Amino acid sequence: MLNIYHVKQMNGENKMIESLEFDQEKYQIRTMEQNGHKITFREYKGIPYCKYPVESIQKLNLFVPEEFYEDKSVGEYQLRTAPIFVTNTVGEYRPGPADEPRVNEKGNINSIFAALEHGYVVVSVGVRGCTTRTGKAPALIVDMKAAIRYLRHNKEKIPGNTEWIVTNGTSAGGALSALTGATGNSPDYKIYLKKIGAAEERDDVYAASCYCPIQNLEHADAAYEWMFGSEQEYHSRKSVLQETDNEIIMEMENEGRLNEKQTELSRILKNQFQAYVNHLRLTDGRGNWLQLDENGEGNFKDYVQSYVEWSAQDELDTHHFGSGFPDLVVEGSDVDNQSYMEVRGGKLTAFHWDGFIKKVTRMKKTPAFDSLDLTSPENEEFGSENTDRRHFTELSKKFSEKDGEMVEAFVVKRMNPMRYIGKADTAKHWRIRHGVFDRATALAMPIILATKLMDKGYDVDFYLPWGISHGGDYDLDELFAWIDRICLEQPQLCFT
Ligand code: DHB
Repeated sequence: MLNIYHVKQMNGENKMIESLEFDQEKYQIRTMEQNGHKITFREYKGIPYCKYPVESIQKLNLFVPEEFYEDKSVGEYQLRTAPIFVTNTVGEYRPGPADEPRVNEKGNINSIFAALEHGYVVVSVGVRGCTTRTGKAPALIVDMKAAIRYLRHNKEKIPGNTEWIVTNGTSAGGALSALTGATGNSPDYKIYLKKIGAAEERDDVYAASCYCPIQNLEHADAAYEWMFGSEQEYHSRKSVLQETDNEIIMEMENEGRLNEKQTELSRILKNQFQAYVNHLRLTDGRGNWLQLDENGEGNFKDYVQSYVEWSAQDELDTHHFGSGFPDLVVEGSDVDNQSYMEVRGGKLTAFHWDGFIKKVTRMKKTPAFDSLDLTSPENEEFGSENTDRRHFTELSKKFSEKDGEMVEAFVVKRMNPMRYIGKADTAKHWRIRHGVFDRATALAMPIILATKLMDKGYDVDFYLPWGISHGGDYDLDELFAWIDRICLEQPQLCFT
């Protein structure tokens, strides 16, 4: 039965969707060419994926290599066998509209273009975000699940293999990919999915690719202070597109020094982090429980450092990122000139953590995510239909400068992939990348995510590329090689 509440019109654009059947005939054929890359593809655009959308953004675009319809293979795949690469454009938890193959201002092709060229079916999902009343948490993951269900609902008509759905995303979009991967078929999302009229289907995925996922938000403040607590100065820059000559310039956005109150909060948060890490009971893969003492020292810290050292040694050996990614690596990150590292004969012999932190520098003031003045994207994400911004940690609620409200605990849970790993139908395969010089969240956060997954027996390809800052999709050839491996080689896994 139709519930009138669901068909409430928003912006005069939304109406009830008659049917969730995929119309195979409603496509255009397009060809794009750029720097020797050429794709001809079938484009199905603006498909509503749920029956009672509340915002016009709740649509997906689907793209298919045209060769598939000429009975040809692209790479290893045909029309019915290709993996489905599911992308999103979410950043800073804002609305992420469905995207299409594109060439950016620097002449580089985007991931949709590259994935089509490689032989995947590509779906870009438009999802709601924090800037609208109806887009607050957990709307983004509800929308992504509804889109996955739509694909399954139409699996006989949709090109590609719905058992090989691979999600991809960067930053808040990487968190969305991680959430999709972690929470497959969890009953926790049932009522939200029902409300938007999602198809009654499974919503688990085969694999999740996550670039610098900004997740585990309720513990991210504490992790940030564990890592950057020694740094009093903070500064962030924002890249701004100059409209006149289409050039990207860097602009200082925010800088300052922690005040007394922030320094005190930093100390409290650092203590919280040690308690959180110890409670997780993560292991190093050799049976040792990863822990921190009251000073924030211990084998967990050694473990985090070992990932950074691994990356540094690889870079010393290959100079892969320093030489191949001039636009993405941080200025001054050249591995041969890092004063906190001792190198003999090309081998890293000592690594001084404090010097490394001084080099990377703090980007955010304390608390990094749950701002006391409610100004962070996360405060906005955890708002409600009636309250635009809310707190999501007890500490920030207590010290709120705006007498802010607190979000419900169950909403925080539904936004944290860590809470679902092994408890839902979690994706079997994971690829997580987080730049060593990314300061948007502490390195401990992706490391904790990857380690929990590994401890639970999932297949995790985890790496911290040297010199790389906040960004994603920079190594698509490697990402696609990984997807091909997990689809075509089918490793045996053992879950605990
Ligand atoms: C993103 C960046 C942030 O610093 C943050 O707190 C949340 C999201 C982003 O780039 O998506």
